Amino acid sequence: MASVPLQSSAPGKVILFGEHAVVYGRPAIAVPVTQVRATVTAATAPPASGLTLVASDLAADTPHPADSPRPADSPRPMQFALATAPEDEPLSAAARLTLAHLSAPEPDATLTISSTIPIASGMGSGAAVSAALIRALAAFLGRTLEPSETSELVFKIEKIHHGTPSGIDNTVVVYERPVFFVRGQPIERLSVAAPFTLIIADTSIPSSTKVAVEHVRRAWTRTPAHYDALFDQIGDLADEARRAIETGDSEALGALMSENHALLIELDVSSPELDELVDVARFAGAQGAKLSGAGLGGNIIALVEDELAVEVEEALIEAGAKRVIRTMVSATE
Ligand code: PMV
Repeated sequence: MASVPLQSSAPGKVILFGEHAVVYGRPAIAVPVTQVRATVTAATAPPASGLTLVASDLAADTPHPADSPRPADSPRPMQFALATAPEDEPLSAAARLTLAHLSAPEPDATLTISSTIPIASGMGSGAAVSAALIRALAAFLGRTLEPSETSELVFKIEKIHHGTPSGIDNTVVVYERPVFFVRGQPIERLSVAAPFTLIIADTSIPSSTKVAVEHVRRAWTRTPAHYDALFDQIGDLADEARRAIETGDSEALGALMSENHALLIELDVSSPELDELVDVARFAGAQGAKLSGAGLGGNIIALVEDELAVEVEEALIEAGAKRVIRTMVSATE
């Protein structure tokens, strides 16, 4: 077991194409956002003290590291012992699942969790916190997990948060590379022919993945043929986007993003604030824009040429975006 503190981390992510339809088996594309990260430090604690989780600086933004908001009268404890934490508390669930997976007894350790990933905004905060925690705990125990094992464990935690996650969040934050994802299938490497720049802009309205996914499921249950057709169209866009990314055709990519946004409006997961930021980004010169993630709040992403990036960022802030993050999706082989 480690005697010096060990640190592990995982990045944020955005979904470029295919959110919601991916839950129903259609393809989706997501990329890591490495400017923001969840970090967990594991340090030795006094004998017989057990495992303590400290999550103090996650509270600044919203009360919970997962994207399931808690009632205001039930704030998340800043520091708690694994032994007394509730079964469904996501940080302790991640620790318990990791210990069970490694057949390891509870160590005397302190796990300190921090994250710069905006919470409840579709940037994979919950998945990244889980991934960093699982890695830090395994490293503390002197064990190494394969990415597939970490991803599977994170997926189990995501199920506690959301019920029916597709698996895209855990995949992209654990593998930390662009992915073309189809539920239940081995991940496919996505080669990026030419780097491209995205601006992520936050409406500041919390996005609950669980609520949005349930909203779509209810609608799909009422008129399955109509929603299946929308999912098919979204899936086709993800296929076309893959070709655009693999050939470096950013003009086509931008147009596909805007088409995907129009279909997300039809799925009824957009909002006036998201639509406004999408329109503002495009008017300011973005090649395309769409909401990203579960929707009903959270972020939009805009594809921009570098020389217009500042202009688009300023326009988004002016239009009410709480913050903007610029990220480059780098070329890969
Ligand atoms: O966690 P978010 O907000 O990035 O959304 C996840 C994307 C969904 O397709 C809506 C749900 C899922 O599990 O894939």
